Amino acid sequence: MSENITPAPVESKELTSFADLVSLCKRRGFIFPSSEIYGGIGSCWDYGPLGVELKLNIKNSWWKAMTDREDVEGLDASILMHPRTWEASGHVEGFVDPLVDCKNCKARFRADKMDEAQLKAGECPTCGKKGTLTEPRNFNLMFKTHMGPLEESASIVYLRPETAQGIFVNFENVQQSARQKVPFGIAQIGKAFRNEITPGNFIFRTREFEQMEMQYFVKPGTDMEWFEKWKEIRLNWHLGNGLRRKKLQFHTHGPTELAHYARAAFDVEYEFPIGWQEIEGIHNRSDFDLRRHQEFSKKKLEYFEESTKERYLPFVIETSVGCDRALLAILCDSYRVEGDRTVLKLHPKLAPYKVAVFPLMKKPELLEMTDKVFNTLKKNFRTTYDESGTIGKRYRRQDEIGTPYCVTIDYDGVADNTVTVRERDGMTQQRISADQLVNYINDQMLAWKSE
Ligand code: GAP
Repeated sequence: MSENITPAPVESKELTSFADLVSLCKRRGFIFPSSEIYGGIGSCWDYGPLGVELKLNIKNSWWKAMTDREDVEGLDASILMHPRTWEASGHVEGFVDPLVDCKNCKARFRADKMDEAQLKAGECPTCGKKGTLTEPRNFNLMFKTHMGPLEESASIVYLRPETAQGIFVNFENVQQSARQKVPFGIAQIGKAFRNEITPGNFIFRTREFEQMEMQYFVKPGTDMEWFEKWKEIRLNWHLGNGLRRKKLQFHTHGPTELAHYARAAFDVEYEFPIGWQEIEGIHNRSDFDLRRHQEFSKKKLEYFEESTKERYLPFVIETSVGCDRALLAILCDSYRVEGDRTVLKLHPKLAPYKVAVFPLMKKPELLEMTDKVFNTLKKNFRTTYDESGTIGKRYRRQDEIGTPYCVTIDYDGVADNTVTVRERDGMTQQRISADQLVNYINDQMLAWKSE
């Protein structure tokens, strides 16, 4: 095997449509359509062996960034909550989309997303018939179910449409048990459900998804300052996952875009193949939620500030990122076609496998050392093993799933205790001492930078 090779760069093409990514995700076990053997179910997706690893790594990256801070505590609240929660939060009344139906082809649309001229003419965007659309009517996005055996109105509960409310109703429990002082935050990762009218674009908009939310409780008057601070912290988190700066932008909400609870808000947007779209929302929710929960529960939720002897309802700065949407942005950003290879240039900390180990051939002389190297690496990194096909083919397989380092054991290596490390992005190859391997990969991972 040749030593220390740096191949000439080839043209690198980015992802231009979700279709290529959907196909790679299915083929390599990142993401499958849900219940596929029954023909699938609209907008539901299952994470396969590599997808679940990638997702866990993203969640860990977020959880660590939040809870490594002394001023943020974790929480895992239940999905089903007291139905009054959703009256207090405004979701029963306000979490609605205006819906129109086509009487001819039965297609359904969000009136606020339709072309104005078409809407005026009642023209269906699917079948093209004019005058077939119903008047817009409000459609609540919350999924309803019943608790207990009786399907009556008294037993209605909702699947939470955001994780945030589990945090608000636990504000006092967390503050007191963790002995936190304002300002402090509560972080949570969990499933949320919305009966979206127009789901789609792969995992971009689904009816079941995971949110990573943090509510930061601050003294009124300091809220805009904290809003700005969190804006920067959150942008840096996305950059720290390898997303390129040129693909990220802020979008500040105008008065007509603000959610019912928000005083000020902006989105972190990523440039997907379908254009710039929100991946995270940062909201100044004022004291809206605590005030409403105080009113509806009749339980005082004021905070007493020891140093000033003041009592107040804290304001809340919320950071809310969809885990699936962040994952989609990360996959899109890392996807490249270079010559005959497709490669995911994932940040090594997020890659499902960090290292792949290959014996040059399936010969006992090589397998003994390969086993040793594999076992050492496995103790330090998530490592995979492959002995089938040519080395070139094995590189291609690992490129496609984003494994940043491939380690090959050959005859020269057995003779002088060395291995070849091939790096994914530049395809450079380095021969190094097997004893140095763990340190070498650790150093490489720490030094990794996106383009
Ligand atoms: N608690 C505030 C809140 O839920 P949001 O802007 O409605 O705010 C926050 O949602 C994030 O959740 C979005 O930026 C997006 O990443 C994700 N999200 C929302 N709806 C989604 C859906 N239907 N499918 C996938 N992700 C979604």
